[in-house]
Amino acid sequence: MRMFKKILSVVLSAVVLGGMAACSNKPVSESSGVSLSAATEQSLITTPRETTEPSDTEKESKWGKAVVVYFSCTGNTKEVALKIASEVGGSTYEIVPVKQYTQDDLSSTNKRARAYREQSDKNARPEIYGTPVDLSSYDTVFIGYPVWFSQAPRILYTFVENHSFEGKTVVPFCTSENSGIGTTATDLAELAENKGKWLTGTRFAASVKSTDIEQWLNALESRLA
Ligand SMILES: Cc1cc2nc3c(=O)[nH]c(=O)nc-3n(C[C@H](O)[C@H](O)[C@H](O)COP(=O)(O)O)c2cc1C
Repeated sequence: MRMFKKILSVVLSAVVLGGMAACSNKPVSESSGVSLSAATEQSLITTPRETTEPSDTEKESKWGKAVVVYFSCTGNTKEVALKIASEVGGSTYEIVPVKQYTQDDLSSTNKRARAYREQSDKNARPEIYGTPVDLSSYDTVFIGYPVWFSQAPRILYTFVENHSFEGKTVVPFCTSENSGIGTTATDLAELAENKGKWLTGTRFAASVKSTDIEQWLNALESRLA
């Protein structure tokens, strides 16, 4: 009987410990509360994935504390942003417009459509929902956006003008159908008065494979001082 009790207690301990390990290893998508329609949420910043793997701890120390800021209307940039956040163990912050873009707003052929008009007006600054995100505790800021008429969407200009990048490593990236990154990233760096260390921007095809993102991050990481 005593032996039976001992076996029972070992089995019960194993079940409890196993349950705790599963809880502490949630994937990013489960631990984040952000979605494209997050305009009603209080906080748009998500926390990094919790992990017990030592290799992830090493990654964190190389990048420092990282946040992936992104704007995305049809999901391509968001997908890249979430992949980066998951690889570097970083948080994500989605730039959500106060006035969401409709499909008509995004027409690339109608010159009266909202996106076309905004991109034609260098002073357009679409308003961002919520209060500016506090970047002070981050070492690395990834900043991602779609290419719109060979430029960064004007809402990125709103974001850059309202945040300080001083002392941070900034990693611009974009997605597009065919265009390269062009001057989109250097335009943003100029707007930030080149404060912070802005790395050369990278363009991903809208249909980029996640292994390509991993390879890019590894190469970038190995070049970090
Ligand atoms: C208004 C508008 C303008 C665009 N202009 C370009 C462009 O100049 N060059 C290009 O290759 N793709 C262009 N695209 C395609 C987007 O850059 C591409 O689909 C991107 O991956 C969308 O990102 P998202 O899904 O994160 O919104 C444009 C799309 C829109 C809606």
